[in-house]
Amino acid sequence: MYVCVCQAITDRQVREAVHSGVQSMRGLRQHLGVASECGKCARCAHGILKECQACPSASLSPADAACA
Ligand code: FES
Repeated sequence: MYVCVCQAITDRQVREAVHSGVQSMRGLRQHLGVASECGKCARCAHGILKECQACPSASLSPADAACA
């Protein structure tokens, strides 16, 4: 599922970034461009970030999206 429509970033890309070491929204913005335009995706991306940090061994399944 797309998290950031402006940059065409999916929840999977956000999860992969977190699993590869990105620890903050600033990092997601720098690494992927999330929330770098309209900002409407910030809340969703932050939710996925926190979810991944809470369960680092979780799968990268798109069905686990934090915001549907
Ligand atoms: S939806 Fe992500 S910056 Fe617009």
